[in-house]
Amino acid sequence: MSEPLQAPRGTFDILPEQAPLRLAVENVTRSVLESAGYERIETPTFEPTELFTRSVGEATDIVQKEMYSFTDGGERSLTLRPEVTAPIVRAYLQHGMHKLPQPVKLWYLSSCFRYERAQKGRYRQFWQIGAEAIGSDDPAVDAESIALLAEILEQLGVQGLQLRIGSLGGSAARERYRELLKAHLRANEDQLADDVKARIDLNPLRAFDSADESTRAVMATAPLLLDHLDKEDLDHFAQVRSLLDAIELPYVIDPTLVRGLDYYARTVFEFSSDALGAQSGVGGGGRYDGLAEQIDGPPTAGFGWAAGVERILLAAEGLPEPEPLTVLFIARADDAAATTATSFALSAAARRAGVPTQIELAGRSIKGQFKHADRVRARYVAAVSSSGIELKDFESGETTRFEDGDAALAAVLRGRGIS
Ligand code: HAM
Repeated sequence: MSEPLQAPRGTFDILPEQAPLRLAVENVTRSVLESAGYERIETPTFEPTELFTRSVGEATDIVQKEMYSFTDGGERSLTLRPEVTAPIVRAYLQHGMHKLPQPVKLWYLSSCFRYERAQKGRYRQFWQIGAEAIGSDDPAVDAESIALLAEILEQLGVQGLQLRIGSLGGSAARERYRELLKAHLRANEDQLADDVKARIDLNPLRAFDSADESTRAVMATAPLLLDHLDKEDLDHFAQVRSLLDAIELPYVIDPTLVRGLDYYARTVFEFSSDALGAQSGVGGGGRYDGLAEQIDGPPTAGFGWAAGVERILLAAEGLPEPEPLTVLFIARADDAAATTATSFALSAAARRAGVPTQIELAGRSIKGQFKHADRVRARYVAAVSSSGIELKDFESGETTRFEDGDAALAAVLRGRGIS
């Protein structure tokens, strides 16, 4: 016989034992963001391919080689979302959210798809938590959003965090700077790695990301964008930094911070963790004031971030041990039809009363049923038989006999402080 089919490379099943930790990430994210006025949004898993080519950018790795694109029955090119910011800006425009009080603050927990080289912390389907504040270019939006991610990562116990921030300025300054950088790269072309050389015109900024030693030596003397920003953008960046200083959130200014998406302008940032290996980026984002226009919307400011759920879990310590879910296990001490009916009715009544309850579903012996109750960490076992119900409380060690289910349930409720 051949092996059973496996999940695709770079994907993973979220097994029941991992569910509680992932729920903790969701709950902390919700509580921190909703307390700050963010509301949840969910967009479709696939979008028109054009949404990403226009916003994330034709020259990026994501668009050039990582998108899962397909043609549907109506001959439209669709793409499984590689990220969620462009879909959310699309939804903002589509639903006229500019009419709401600004900025519109939205959060999400969504799966994303990128055809990347799979390794620890890098998958082809992964999950992001994220927050987007659309409709204001106030530097307080940037600082607050960064602070909220810091709070989430701290509450989740993510270890060894470092925050790097930078500014890419506005498009005019970036254009002028690109020409300067291209000239520097051309002047040193013979020392550059082939992939960097091939992208001098398309995406010169990515040269800062190169791991090649000789390229890195060239980049060490390259002009820096931060030294060529317009005054307005420098002021904006200074205000973001002063607000981060006001809450004593430590950061390093990284003038060469390059993000893998082309829609950024002004502030960019990234949290990395030294508890992770090569894939050290836990979360990042920035300002994207030009994105809406790239998809035919009016000029609209925006700022946001996303963080990888799997990377958070890899770098987190001290997440809470999950509480046992089952309180009452109903065992059947004999095979009489009345016993089965009584235990079934008791389970329904217990659930209605709010007591998490499991029943025997696999025909185990009574000893096996007690063992199973222990495995699911139930506090009580109600052993139902033709002659009544024996309720064992594992917390007190006491066993009490009852004539019927109602009396046994009343005892469970009293034991849990509900009467
Ligand atoms: P990103 O930096 O491409 O930004 O992704 C954000 C986070 O998603 C990364 O820091 C990382 O934790 C996680 N991540 C990315 N790729 C993978 C992967 N292949 N496997 C596992 N985790 C991964 C964005 O996606 C932007 N949309 C963020 C943003 C929101 N900017 C503004 N608003």
